[in-house]
Amino acid sequence: MFKLRQTIIALTGLGMCCWPVYAEEAAASLDDLHLSDGLRTLLRTEMREIAGASQAIVMSFVSGDWKSVLHISEQIRASYILERSLSDTQKQELQEKLPDRFKRLDMEFHARAGKLGLAAASENAETVAFHFYRLLETCATCHAAYAQSRFPGFSSETPDAHHH
Ligand code: HEC
Repeated sequence: MFKLRQTIIALTGLGMCCWPVYAEEAAASLDDLHLSDGLRTLLRTEMREIAGASQAIVMSFVSGDWKSVLHISEQIRASYILERSLSDTQKQELQEKLPDRFKRLDMEFHARAGKLGLAAASENAETVAFHFYRLLETCATCHAAYAQSRFPGFSSETPDAHHH
């Protein structure tokens, strides 16, 4: 069973309302989207950056360093792959190949980072924790839908993905 999911449900009281979302639609793995190597590399680079940033938030949070939480959240919020300096061809490729759901999850993810920043600015530990867990939830939701080959732990969540 997927522990992070249960932890997040317990911590945020989300219960059943939001998690099964990715089970409703047949998952399209990133492999099926056939992104060009350049874009795939860019996506992975962005992922590694936000992973580092998320880890840094943990330490800033437990240190009560709200300025740092705010700063890092702002960096995450601003790190849109869709807004990077892409060539017109690459922009068009993303527009055409990324499913709407992926774009929506990406937007939700960046919006959540914005809320985390606001919480940090108000120096409210409880609200910061809430939005941080919601942020991690968007990572996990997107990975379960589109990164199962990279994170096979999510594969039991969407049996549909294996019906090729
Ligand atoms: C909108 C979708 C989406 C969101 C949100 C998202 N990811 Fe990802 N992530 C992906 C996809 C797709 C891959 C797989 C890329 C591939 O296989 O080439 C990935 C891969 C990764 C990787 C592996 C990179 C590598 O070098 O192989 C890391 C680390 C990662 N994500 C961290 C995170 C963290 C941490 C968060 C949240 C703070 C997050 N991601 C949010 C879609 C997302």
